[in-house]
Amino acid sequence: MGKYDFDTIIERRGTGSLKWNGPESELPMWVADMDFSTAPEIREAIVRIAERGVYGYNVMPPAWELSYQEWWQKRHGLTINAGELLFAKGIVPAISSMIRSFTEQGDGVLIQPPVYNCFFRTIRENQRRVVENNLLIAEDLSCSIDFDDLETKLSDPSVKLFILCNPQNPGGRLWTKEELSAMGDLAIKHNVVIISDEIHCDLTEPGKNYQPFAAVSETCRQNSLTCLAPSKTFNLAGIQTSAIFSANEELRKRAEQGFDTDEVSEPGSFSAEAAIAAFRYGEPWLAELNEYIQENKETVKSFLGAELPEIRVTPSEATYLLWLDIRALPGQGEGFAAFLRKETGLYLLDGRIYGDHGRGFLRMNVACPRALLDDGLKRLKKGTEAFISR
Ligand SMILES: Cc1ncc(COP(=O)(O)O)c(C=O)c1O
Repeated sequence: MGKYDFDTIIERRGTGSLKWNGPESELPMWVADMDFSTAPEIREAIVRIAERGVYGYNVMPPAWELSYQEWWQKRHGLTINAGELLFAKGIVPAISSMIRSFTEQGDGVLIQPPVYNCFFRTIRENQRRVVENNLLIAEDLSCSIDFDDLETKLSDPSVKLFILCNPQNPGGRLWTKEELSAMGDLAIKHNVVIISDEIHCDLTEPGKNYQPFAAVSETCRQNSLTCLAPSKTFNLAGIQTSAIFSANEELRKRAEQGFDTDEVSEPGSFSAEAAIAAFRYGEPWLAELNEYIQENKETVKSFLGAELPEIRVTPSEATYLLWLDIRALPGQGEGFAAFLRKETGLYLLDGRIYGDHGRGFLRMNVACPRALLDDGLKRLKKGTEAFISR
């Protein structure tokens, strides 16, 4: 028995939760937010502030920057010097703003599908072009980078920005130092700036660690901006507290100017203290969380192996998301996500939202109490059998 409770089901319906906004019969395992209460120290910090009763405008205290510096140095070997961190409300608003700051309308922004759906949306909504460097997916479902294609795409002079997802959402790959270094070398060779989105970086399989892109080499450090946050790790998306790190003053100043224009950098009343509590006191909670998520992933894997061999699980080293291969289902699984939701109430995400390359896959969020996961797996079995026998 661990010290923290991940088993209790917390009623989230009727609380304004995006995830739990559907009908009573629905079991949502889609959007990347966890059905767990956050670490007690973070909750206490939030309550302390709530009790002050005054919620005026805010500035970030030095302790905020320090908490990031200590966490990334100690856990991940990334040095963040004073002044190299910018506050941002959220990673997606910050990326959207950086797209505007670092590219012109019509320029190409490279991403590696299947990848986080908001990258597509924010590139297109800013009237930039999505340039896809699709990941290679092997027979055993392991995924890797198509470096030849990457170089071809980066060598197009209209491609100005590369948004890297490290670790990868939805596949859960932890990119190695060698892979990151090779990507960094190609980007600098072709004058392309890298935004490394590392929001999922602390949600790793026990015993594994992620490699920050900016800690790979001086080249990577100087040619990048990194998205960091406690929001995925500690389930704080609704607090809106994130950061962008860059050691390159010129890139950082440009990003900062954009954040000011776009009003991305106004902290809320809980932004600083929630992040400080997370990074100062959250480590023991996180260690248990990662164990729990790993057990959930193993549960899904053994269930599918025994009960639904038609559905295969992509090896996942990070994130609480599973990328399920449904290509063995009738019609290569086309329409299965919608069918499953309608017939059983289980709401998983259709892989196509992660780019055309995600066709034939589903994304499942397993950051929930075991009882909900078991319910989800039962619904998945029922839905799959009904889909096959249609
Ligand atoms: C890779 C990635 N980046 C960013 C976000 C969202 O960041 P924010 O809520 O801070 O905008 C997510 C959420 O799932 C994500 O998966």
